[in-house]
Amino acid sequence: MPAHPSLHPRVLELRSSVFAVLAEKMARLGGRVLPLHIGDTCRLPPAAALCSSAPITEPAGLYQYGHPFGLPALLEALAAKLRRRNGLDWARPEHVQVSCGATHALFCATQALFGPGDEVLVLAPYWPLITGILQCTGARPVQVPFYQALLDRPDLDPLRLVEPYLTERTVALYINTPNNPDGCVLGRTTLEALAHLCCSRSLWALSDEAYEDYLYDGREHLSLASLPGMAERTLSVYTFSKSHALSGLRVGYVVCGREPMNTLRRIANHSVYNTPVLSQRAALAALEQGEAWLAQTHKQYQAAADLVRTRLKGRFHPAQGGAYVFYDTTAVAPDVWSFIDRALEAGVSLAPGEAFGRDFAGFVRICFTAVELPELAEAIDRLNAVL
Ligand SMILES: Cc1ncc(COP(=O)(O)O)c(C=O)c1O
Repeated sequence: MPAHPSLHPRVLELRSSVFAVLAEKMARLGGRVLPLHIGDTCRLPPAAALCSSAPITEPAGLYQYGHPFGLPALLEALAAKLRRRNGLDWARPEHVQVSCGATHALFCATQALFGPGDEVLVLAPYWPLITGILQCTGARPVQVPFYQALLDRPDLDPLRLVEPYLTERTVALYINTPNNPDGCVLGRTTLEALAHLCCSRSLWALSDEAYEDYLYDGREHLSLASLPGMAERTLSVYTFSKSHALSGLRVGYVVCGREPMNTLRRIANHSVYNTPVLSQRAALAALEQGEAWLAQTHKQYQAAADLVRTRLKGRFHPAQGGAYVFYDTTAVAPDVWSFIDRALEAGVSLAPGEAFGRDFAGFVRICFTAVELPELAEAIDRLNAVL
């Protein structure tokens, strides 16, 4: 007789993190490893957003439950930002839900929209957690090789890449621009084509805009929900993890029309109740007082992207935005793990491409925002030496 009932097969299908394998290898090696495998930043958040700053630690209200939708002042500030910066002129506090990071925002959005039998097209390569988040709903993530093809041939018709994967069960499209892991930025023509597809096939769009603040070489971010016909069918997610280097505090948000928002809010309410008040206060301070910091950070990330483009040898597309390049190891190593091991022995950790989609086992992701510029230069030299 089993000791307990069986575990749910849906959960057993979730992948364990490949980063655990990497962490073990790093621990075995010891020594100083430059961590380019993680998707984080070496920057400290704006001074006003540090947890030690007085307005954030003001005890009144800090230790009680907060409003489940988000602090009213933060919701107001976010709605204003979405109108001003993202072109969502309809955005009001009632269209915004504060979440525990973009991960939780996407969890709530997908729980609100999908269920068993649904298929969601995931443009690939993709941020690794999105497929598991979709699987938690019972929906099937369908991988659509997309960004690398567009980087190789910017004149390609994006719909030619997507249409072969559409079925009667397709209910939504997950889009990430700037893209993690390959730094691809989708321009107006591509987004308009995807918007047209969503409208004509009556699909939802999940627009992951985690890296909206970091586009390079004069490119500008465009929000899918600002395009005609998209306001009512797009759920757009953002995060202070990336915008303001606050990943440890877990604050993100989602904006959408009233109908999906009503359902989504119930999921948020039943999953975490509220995002910690301290974290929301820090996010608000970052939003209100972080403009100069954002400009400095943008400058630093642009310099890091330039350094990778000009100094790293081998095959990769320079980052158009975000924090990464996706490096093709097939010409320099018999298999990706032997390349990762060589890099580790040289003191640089990289993320294996298999985490980012079925077709990318020969790639590694290199994060260029995780260390300061001199260390990045050192990491690139170490990588060049093992190529
Ligand atoms: C594209 C993308 N979306 C969402 C997230 C989740 O961010 P968080 O949950 O830290 O806000 C990440 C984190 O790396 C990401 O790269």
